[in-house]
Amino acid sequence: MLKNAPAPAFQDHADGPLDAMRQAAEECRRCDLYRDATQVVFGEGARHARVLLIGEQPGDREDQLGHPFVGPAGRFLDGCLEEAGIDRADCYLTNAVKHFKFKRLGKRRIHEKPNTGEVRRCAWWLGGEIALVKPRLLVTLGATAAFAVLGKRYAVTVDRGRIVDTEIGVPALITVHPSALLRSRGRPDAEQERQRFVAELGKMKPFLKA
Ligand code: URA
Repeated sequence: MLKNAPAPAFQDHADGPLDAMRQAAEECRRCDLYRDATQVVFGEGARHARVLLIGEQPGDREDQLGHPFVGPAGRFLDGCLEEAGIDRADCYLTNAVKHFKFKRLGKRRIHEKPNTGEVRRCAWWLGGEIALVKPRLLVTLGATAAFAVLGKRYAVTVDRGRIVDTEIGVPALITVHPSALLRSRGRPDAEQERQRFVAELGKMKPFLKA
């Protein structure tokens, strides 16, 4: 699903192809999620990052601010990256789906998982980002990102911590989504799970070296 990326169409933009792609994504009507979301939240980070991390979709805070991983899950991820000895600024962070999907509950906006069709349509942008950033490693955070990159061949619970081949030739490290760890904070094994996540993120390090 990442193979039909639009990258070549964006090569000739004065501010660089990633900026051109970001601008084009602002007008995206490939699915209906743009209707209720505040704005598109495109990926950000080092333009030629060696590692590209992929979440599910922007959350409430990201939707308001227009940047990926700036809410609670992002702060949790930042802490775990730091503990793993990784500088977020060396990476590129994006999402499988670029608009916030939610349902309203009174004044609150509750996250809703994107469906297969939405993930497939948004793979157009994700594939484009990967083609332009040209990372050495993808990191899939959670099931939606794993599905976007790998299809149904792997299950996060079984395969987390593994680095596997993808059909676009860039290996992918499979791990959990930081929100899942945040949600299970009260559980007895929460700290153990967090440490496991930090150890999995540590597998990025050889790919970040020159
Ligand atoms: N969760 C995600 O998957 N992505 C974000 O950008 C924020 C929260």
